[in-house]
Amino acid sequence: MEEQTRSEILKTIPYGFYITGVVGSDGEANGFTTCWVSQVSFEPQQVVVAVRKDQHTHDLIEQGGVFSLNFLDTDQEDLARKFTHPLQPEDGTLAGSPYSTGETEAPLFDEAFANLECRVVGKLEAGDHTVYLGEVAAANLGRPADILTDLDTPMEYGG
Ligand SMILES: Cc1cc2nc3c(=O)[nH]c(=O)nc-3n(C[C@H](O)[C@H](O)[C@H](O)COP(=O)(O)O)c2cc1C
Repeated sequence: MEEQTRSEILKTIPYGFYITGVVGSDGEANGFTTCWVSQVSFEPQQVVVAVRKDQHTHDLIEQGGVFSLNFLDTDQEDLARKFTHPLQPEDGTLAGSPYSTGETEAPLFDEAFANLECRVVGKLEAGDHTVYLGEVAAANLGRPADILTDLDTPMEYGG
């Protein structure tokens, strides 16, 4: 019973939705929907992202040592759903989602309204996830928008 209470309380923590972009040592670009993200330092500007250890994308972030945060807007629930499934490269896109690269090799997805590029500068083992500390290396604002949050959709991650 207390187990269920813990879970319900944890589920009330609000999150923004992102596609985290990663790249492997052989150049394989990939991305996955992420909400366990937070800024943790002003100077230098640093963020953390928690990545589930049994995911393919966990191997890629381990290899590449970089990640991008691609910010989803309130009309992009479908895109958030798409990136919760393993996706394959297709004609220079990831399953039809175009991307470019910037200062790091991490993919920057065109559909996002903003992108941050980060280099991994630390990590923490956290049970079934690894928490990566990323230092912001570059930023791009495509258009002003409001970020999609778990308050806008029935999608959830937590508990
Ligand atoms: C709303 C939502 C938020 C998610 N947030 C995270 C997250 O913060 N960290 C994570 O590792 N996986 C998260 N996931 C799960 C990944 O998006 C999913 O496991 C994805 O398929 C992993 O890609 P891969 O199998 O290609 O490695 C989330 C899923 C949903 C539905």
